[in-house]
Order: sequence, then C-alpha cells, then structure tokens
Amino acid sequence: MTGTSLDGIDTALCRIHTIDTTITLELCEYMCYEYPSEIKKEIQFLLNEPSPISIYSHIHHELSRVYAQCVRQLCSSAKFDIQTISAIGIHGQTLWHDPQQQRCTLQAGNGEVLAKILSIPVVSDFRSADVALGGTGAPLVPIFDKEFFSSDTNTHIALNIGGMANITVLPPRHSATPVIACDTGPGNVLIDALCMKYYNVPFDTEGKYAHNGLLIQELLQELQNHPFYKTPLPKSTGREVFGQQYADFLCDSFSNHHPNNLIRTVTELTAWHITDHIQRLSDNPHTVIVAGGGKHNIFLMNRLQELLPQTLFCSSESFGINADAKEAMCFAYLSYRTLSGLPSNIPSVTGASREAVLGSISLP
Ligand SMILES: Nc1ncnc2c1ncn2[C@@H]1O[C@H](COP(=O)(O)OP(=O)(O)O)[C@@H](O)[C@H]1O
Ligand SMILES: [Mg+2]
Repeated sequence: MTGTSLDGIDTALCRIHTIDTTITLELCEYMCYEYPSEIKKEIQFLLNEPSPISIYSHIHHELSRVYAQCVRQLCSSAKFDIQTISAIGIHGQTLWHDPQQQRCTLQAGNGEVLAKILSIPVVSDFRSADVALGGTGAPLVPIFDKEFFSSDTNTHIALNIGGMANITVLPPRHSATPVIACDTGPGNVLIDALCMKYYNVPFDTEGKYAHNGLLIQELLQELQNHPFYKTPLPKSTGREVFGQQYADFLCDSFSNHHPNNLIRTVTELTAWHITDHIQRLSDNPHTVIVAGGGKHNIFLMNRLQELLPQTLFCSSESFGINADAKEAMCFAYLSYRTLSGLPSNIPSVTGASREAVLGSISLP
C-alpha cells in the first residue's frame, strides 16, 4: 500500500482463511519501507508538473521493482519462505483520480512486472472496475471495515487519517441500513506540506507545532468554504484538489502568520471536516475506530475527541487491527476476495451501478 502521503510503502504479510462464510485475517508481519528518494522525487514531480509520458512509464515499472524488494525484505524479516505466498495485492501509487468529471483513475505499479519478478500471482488496479461502473472507485476499505469493525448492536464509524481522511459508517451488523462512506477532506497532506515548507520535516510529530500555535479563525473560515465539504455523497478526493498548489495558496494568502499558527489551523480544519461529516452522516455513533498515520498526531486526536465528546475515539488496535498496517492488510484482504471471485465494492458507498470483482490478476 502506498497512500497519498508518499511517506512510505506499507507491507503486510497476512494469513487469510474462510471458515464457513466468515473470512479470518491474521497479521504475521508488518513493515513500512521508506520510499527510495529518487523515485519519490520523480513521483512528486509528476504530481506537480506537466510531465512527459516516459516519466510515468518509468515509475509504473520501477515501482514494481521497488515493491519486489519490499516483499523480499518483509519475508526475510518474518523468516517466511517467499515461495509459499499465494498472492500479492498492490494498490499502487495514485497518480490521478478523477472519477466524477473525467471518469478515470490511475495507479502506478505494474502487476505484470511484479508477478514476473517474484513468480507470485499479483492483483492490482482495484479501482478501475468501480469507476467503469459509474462509481467513485473510492473508498474501497469499507468492505474491510464492515467485516472487521461492525457491531451487533451499535453504529460504529471507521476513520482512516492518511494523506486524505475517510470515514465508513457501519450500521449494526444485521441492520437493513446500507453502509455509507466517503473521503471527508485532507487528512495529513496539508499539515505535512506546511511542515516541509517551514521546518523541512515530513510531518508534525505528535502535533507539537499545532499544539504551540494559535488558531487563525479567518483562515479556518476561508478553508471551510471549499465546496468539497458540502458536496453530496458519493465523493472522494485527492492531491488533485488538496495538493501542493492548495498548500502554496494558503501559505501565500496568510504569509504574515507564524508557521505554527498555520499548522494549528489546518490541523483544526482536519478535525472539523471529520467531525462535521460524522455528525451529518450518522446519529450518535457509539465508537469511532481510528487508523492511519494521523492517529499518531496527539493534538489532532485530542481535538477530535473534544469536538465530539459523546463519542468514543479509539484505535483500531482495540479491534485487533494494527492501525499502521490496516490499509495494507485491506489490500491483502481485497486480493483474497478477487481470487475467490467475491465482489469488493459497495455500490451504496461508491455509487457504482452494481457490485463487481475488483482488480486485474497477473500470473507468474
Ligand atoms: N508520529 C507522528 N506524529 C504525527 N503525524 C504522524 C506521525 N507518524 C505519521 N504521521 C502522519 O501520518 C502520515 C502517513 O499516514 P498514512 O496512513 O501512511 O497515510 P497514506 O495512506 O496517505 O500514506 C504522515 O505523512 C504523517 O502526516
Ligand atoms: Mg503511508
């Protein structure tokens, strides 16, 4: 799994079984590998500048070689024989995602190359099928959330704070109410961009800069006016909307403020749009189950809890799922579903015209 944060390559070695109709998932090993700096620079360039197709093609193949190295290291650290792996699921690096207007999505990382290097079947390109069926192609995690986080009696919410933030509203397990989910807005991506610009560090460790900053009310209001927040479901977003250009614009417009105040304010924006969507999309959720790197931002986590005092925010670890490994585990789970012929998109979430088996299978 490589998310919008571009912070690293998350790898999860999972043991998955079906018992009766229930799928069980056990995490055997998790590692996050740093992106090799050359390919990270190339991806950042491609995301921010009009670029020749040769760069895209190079990234598409080169990432597979990097992924192969990660899988080898993961197996070696787990002392696990790589040849006994049944399949690899790769999300790939999203380079473009515009399901609504242009009806397209593009993840780099070539399944064929990876399958041939490691002689292991690979499932890749999970989003295209849903977009082809008129869906948003995202989020795809809700089927995983439904399986592993639903309660028999209460409404639960699964929250992932990565580069973008997304929520899944999970009605009680046997309820007729459909699962809904969406991206709520930028998670860490603006916080990270400001930390890099002003302090040359990749993120706000534990939210310390935000903790030392003051809220700029005028900036918060301006940011809250972005039309994405009021867009009806289904919706998803990415760096095309909340990327470097957006971060540069907000820094330029409020350049007379201390960096910590800017970081405090974009952190507040993240807490606001998450809790605002939770309130609008569910009545009194009992528990919010949090995963993703944003969970380590203590200031952000405290703000979430303060904004919704009646709801319990807890880590996905309380439900037996490692919060950093969750999305990587999800793509192992999705690849298992693909190879079992099971659909993985939820039309009530993405707006697709029907359920579909997702992904392309590359054989060794
Ligand atoms: N110790 C930490 N303190 C604050 N934020 C952190 C910490 N560790 C990770 N993060 C945040 O988590 C992000 C990575 O989250 P991740 O879930 O991997 O996102 P993505 O799926 O977009 O790659 C980092 O870019 C950073 O913003
Ligand atoms: Mg990441």
